[in-house]
Order: sequence, then structure tokens, then C-alpha cells
Amino acid sequence: MEFMLDTVNLAEIKKWAQILPLAGVTSNPTIIKREGELDFFEHLKKVRELIGPQPSLHVQVVAKDTAGMVAEAKKLQAELGGNLYIKIPVTQEGLVAIKQLKQADFKVTATAIYTTMQGLLALEAGADYLAPYYNRMENLDTDPVALIAQLASAREKSTQKGKILAASFKNASQVTKALGAGAQAVTAGSDIYAASLADPAIAKAVSDFAIDWKTSQKRAGI
Ligand code: E4P
Repeated sequence: MEFMLDTVNLAEIKKWAQILPLAGVTSNPTIIKREGELDFFEHLKKVRELIGPQPSLHVQVVAKDTAGMVAEAKKLQAELGGNLYIKIPVTQEGLVAIKQLKQADFKVTATAIYTTMQGLLALEAGADYLAPYYNRMENLDTDPVALIAQLASAREKSTQKGKILAASFKNASQVTKALGAGAQAVTAGSDIYAASLADPAIAKAVSDFAIDWKTSQKRAGI
């Protein structure tokens, strides 16, 4: 199971890289835009510095045509290197780009997956990760759990082993449902991880244990 952060906010990454068993950081053009004016490559290099060499970094192309996507992938790889995954939307042009990039040994995350067929085609095209958009599917009255389960079952039968990296979450319940349906990885904002650890029952349990200990035991040094 892999937990990733869906942000390029440096303060959040610095904090949550320490807390989480962090497997990677994901971004898209909207996530980058949220940070305001920045030097794109310099900013992503800072992200890499913060997370270290091991976790994966997923950066999306913006071109809509195959040649543009491949050219961007080459530029991203040259500038950022390391454990980099090029995010390619699963369109007709994107599938051509995925096949070309895999033949050239790039690591690829197939993204903007809203339909089962998109996921299946990206899997067989050789994508390393498949990113179904959980909340966006729910907004469209598509069942993301069924889609993820179907992809997970197809992956079991296939020779291709791209991992399901579920994305687009608005709460922790969606995250755990995606994992329960068979996703190998999830990416979520720090707000979702924070909320998962902030239930008042957790703080109350910790504080009750401390009170009970204090009122019943004397342990040297505590
Ligand atoms: C991954 O990086 C996806 O692009 C992202 O999770 C989409 O999230 P959104 O639906 O909140 O825009």
C-alpha cells in the first residue's frame, strides 16, 4: 500500500513527509497553480529535496497532442530526473504517448481516468500507475468503487502490473473505500490525512490513558 501527497505546497510537504510513510508526491497543473507565481522547475526541485530520492514524484504534461506530450516528458525527465513519473491523461493522443514513452523507458502515470475502459487501455499500454479520479466520478454519478475493483481484477489477470493510484479525494472515507476496492496506492491532500488523525476520540483516549497512569502508577522517570 502506498500513501502519497497530492500537493506541491512546500510547507505541507515538509511537515507531512515526516509524519507519513510517504511513497510519493503527485501534482497536476491546477495543483501547481494553487501555489501562485513560481519557477516551475525550481519549485519541483525543492519538492524533490524535501522528500528525498526514494519517493516518487508525479508531474503532468499540459500538451494535448502526442508529440507535445512526449517533448514535455523529455524536458521534465532532463530537468527533474530521479524517481519521476510523467502523468499523461488517458486520451487517444495520450495512449499513443504512453506507448511511446514506455518504449523509451520512461515511467508513466496514466491520469484523468473516469471510465473503466480508460483504465484497462492504460494498463495494457504499459502505464506504471493508473489514476482514477474518485470524487470527480462520484460527482458524475459513476461508481468509483466498482471501477477500481474492475481494474484491480483485470490487473490480476494481465501480464501488465501497473498499480492503481486512486486520486481526487475529498475525505478519508473515500480513500479507505478506494483501498478496500483494490487500489495499491492513494494520493490525498494533507487536510485528509490531518482529519484522519484529528478525531476528538483519539485525543481523549490518549489523555484518558495519561490520567489513569498518573493516578494509579509511579514509573521511574515518567
Ligand atoms: C492527482 O494528482 C489528481 O490530478 C488529483 O487528485 C485530482 O484532484 P481533484 O479532483 O481534487 O482536482
